Amino acid sequence: MAEQKATNVTWHAHKVQRADRYKLAGHKGAVLWFTGLSACGKSTIANEIDYRLNQLGKRSYVLDGDNIRMGLNKNLGFSADDRAENIRRIGEVSKLFADSGVIASTAFISPYRADRDKVRALLEPGQFIEIYVKATVETCEKRDPKGLYKKARAGEIKGFTGIDDPYEAPEKAELVLDADNKGIEELSNEVMAYLEANGILSV
Ligand code: ADX
Repeated sequence: MAEQKATNVTWHAHKVQRADRYKLAGHKGAVLWFTGLSACGKSTIANEIDYRLNQLGKRSYVLDGDNIRMGLNKNLGFSADDRAENIRRIGEVSKLFADSGVIASTAFISPYRADRDKVRALLEPGQFIEIYVKATVETCEKRDPKGLYKKARAGEIKGFTGIDDPYEAPEKAELVLDADNKGIEELSNEVMAYLEANGILSV
């Protein structure tokens, strides 16, 4: 998909190692990869986790779908190829965050399993935490905060995930959040418990 175009480039090893950065932060870097339908709650949960981590004195940052699509990825649309490139770039960026000792939460639909698995393969074992925010189309459509499902049903948006574009649910997510039945507080507690239990919050 993304060929190496530049020639005469050499990878530089850094003098400061990842372990040194983790030590300074007092915890590990990681990527919390939230995936799920539009309006399932990805961004809201990612932001709540960011807030809680910040309150605990942890280094944290959120990479969010709409925001990244207005900057870094403003030249990408919603075809399968563009979504793949969207996720590839975000994967590379999130890897840099994790390497620098930050807990990066990403909130993108990331509908294709293969695209998510490529990001997983970029990261060290344990660094990539796939969090499936599981909600039915019915739940998301009822919320519809941006009115996009309504537009998609009316044929004003083509290729909308969950309506006339696919969403491939994770098969090996580290965490599955039941967003049909539980609220943001409870789901955020589950994420924090996972981070604690898996040693992310300490060196
Ligand atoms: S992804 O599929 O490439 O991961 P991403 O998370 O960046 O998508 O962007 C999804 C957001 O873009 C949605 O929350 C919605 O606000 C908006 N959007 C606009 N068109 C579409 C579409 N055709 N399918 C899904 N989301 C869309």
